[in-house]
Amino acid sequence: MVFENVNLRDKHTFHLNVFCKKLSYIRKAEDYNELLKMGFKKEKHLILGGGSNVLFTGDFDGWIAINQIKGKEILHDAGHEVTVRFGSGEVWHEVVEWCLEKDFGGIENLALIPGTVGAAPIQNIGAYGVEIKDVLWKVEGMDETGNEKTLMNEECQFGYRDSIFKNDLKNKFFITHVILRLSKGKHKLNYSYASLNEELKRRGIEHPTIQDIARAVIYIRQSKLPDPEKTGNAGSFFKNPTLSASEYEKFKLKFPDVPAYPSGESAKIPAAWLIEQCGYKGKTWKGAGVHEKQPLVLVNKNNARGTDILELCELIQEKVKEKFGIFLEPEVNIIR
Ligand code: EPU
Repeated sequence: MVFENVNLRDKHTFHLNVFCKKLSYIRKAEDYNELLKMGFKKEKHLILGGGSNVLFTGDFDGWIAINQIKGKEILHDAGHEVTVRFGSGEVWHEVVEWCLEKDFGGIENLALIPGTVGAAPIQNIGAYGVEIKDVLWKVEGMDETGNEKTLMNEECQFGYRDSIFKNDLKNKFFITHVILRLSKGKHKLNYSYASLNEELKRRGIEHPTIQDIARAVIYIRQSKLPDPEKTGNAGSFFKNPTLSASEYEKFKLKFPDVPAYPSGESAKIPAAWLIEQCGYKGKTWKGAGVHEKQPLVLVNKNNARGTDILELCELIQEKVKEKFGIFLEPEVNIIR
């Protein structure tokens, strides 16, 4: 079924008032084949999950398909480890909650990340010291001609907020299912990330369970990040830039206060800090704004247009480049 001239306001988390020419839903893998037969790929097109990582700069003069493939299935239970297969249209946080209920560990640090399961491997979602690549076994999907294909973890070429699905396979592979390997009963916990560690201490928890970690993560996220249902946003708008060890040494001489995280050959510089130092924290530009508690997040403050947010993005990029000589690469997918 193809809907025409649809308002996308409730289909993406910036909640901009933009329209697309055509819109369809994919509820099972075969629907994708159907779309291919109808010429989906021959027109300007885009597949959306929860729409939590896109910025529409204006109306989308093409065809959007929204992925709603559902399913949560335990493929194998080896006692201490389980293999679970999720439909790519499942809401990510609902999957996290389902795992917490069953005491399946590995994704508790990724609680409350907006978006769908299928979008998670594309940008290798990560938070509080964990990335989906740490637990992902394989990805099932379809190639451009609608043939089924499976990609193992190593084949996904995961990097920081990066994967083959953003590079060689961009718009060429439709993810239908994601298969994770999770711990059961005995968990390998990861709570060394500073703010998570502090929050657990504040709660007096010395030996956390996966549920304790998820609750602490949810609390931190809710206190720092704006709820997209109230204030439109797409999470971190930029990636944290990475400097080589020698670039970092030079940078630190010039800016000794930088709260960076050197690890091995490189160091990640918090983009939030760079933006704050440029005086952009809490700033407003037309309908757009920089979130006052976490300046890495750009928000739809007051009926913003996509171009307001894009202009604000460019203003920040310019300022950061001028002051620090660093280019801030957007993490959000900018749709022009
Ligand atoms: N900081 C400031 N000013 C602020 C806030 C933060 O200077 O107002 C500095 C502080 O030094 C702080 C550092 O930035 O220690 C890091 O801040 P935070 O822990 O909030 O994490 P982040 O690096 O800004 C990343 C991810 C988030 C993820 C958090 C937690 C990226 C692009 N973003 O943010 O992911 O939730 O770590 O792990 O890597 C997302 O991708 O949408 C997202 C929200």
